[in-house]
Amino acid sequence: MNDLQPALPVLSARDLCREFSLPGDRSLEVLRHLDLDIHEAEMVAIVGLSGVGKSTLLHCLGLLDTPSSGQITYRSGGQTWQSPGLNEPQRCGLRNQFIGFVFQFFHLLSDLDVLENVMLPAIVGTPKSDWKQRKPQIEAKARTLLETVGLAGREEQAPGTLSGGERQRVAIARALINNPRLLLCDEPTGNLDSSTSEKIHTLLRQLHEDLGTSILVVTHDPDLASRADRRLAMIDGRFEKSADHPSD
Ligand SMILES: Nc1ncnc2c1ncn2[C@@H]1O[C@H](COP(=O)(O)OP(=O)(O)OP(=O)(O)O)[C@@H](O)[C@H]1O
Ligand SMILES: [Mg+2]
Repeated sequence: MNDLQPALPVLSARDLCREFSLPGDRSLEVLRHLDLDIHEAEMVAIVGLSGVGKSTLLHCLGLLDTPSSGQITYRSGGQTWQSPGLNEPQRCGLRNQFIGFVFQFFHLLSDLDVLENVMLPAIVGTPKSDWKQRKPQIEAKARTLLETVGLAGREEQAPGTLSGGERQRVAIARALINNPRLLLCDEPTGNLDSSTSEKIHTLLRQLHEDLGTSILVVTHDPDLASRADRRLAMIDGRFEKSADHPSD
């Protein structure tokens, strides 16, 4: 790669708006002409008051919600996808392969054991005809990820028998099973005590450094925000300029 040409961001959002319709012909403008770039192997923290639109932004970037207007560009390995303009298979493919999600409340499936929960996104992303052939690789990868997050030996347990911090580590392993370019984390330690949170913060930072995955994390926790390469403060549906461009 030419050193003089910096790599294009993994994700770019431009002029992003999200307005919700409310009862009585009212509406709520949550995202207001927001711009954002996330670069390769960058960890960015978003901070802001409750209700300012942080989760709404993550849902739009993660293709779980549709912005009212604006563009989002996803880039990986020389390929580019732009929303709007994606068909449903492309949206599903990006959600499954490009993005990993970690939520505050883990969202593990209680009917599956820990190993199966981690394997699930890889199973979903594999054509049924290849499933038998790929299963051993997927299982080996899931076991390695569980070891990385410190849960070796817990593979056959039900998620309900794990502590909150352990469940979140399963969710992080699950989010990484398809080698996503971007991990979107919405208050990943919002439901955990401070000592467990600290361990998850260390794990996220370590995974970020070891795997080079870009991370966008929404947090109210100053410790987690301080571990990011860049912090963005969200106010009035967009980012405070001084935080988005610290060198300005
Ligand atoms: N589907 C919806 N319909 C109407 N309003 C919504 C909808 N989803 C979110 N909102 C509103 O959008 C605003 C932003 O919500 P959002 O969940 O993004 O906030 P947040 O910054 O993540 O807050 P918190 O820190 O409390 O999680 C809130 O006022 C919320 O009520
Ligand atoms: Mg939120």
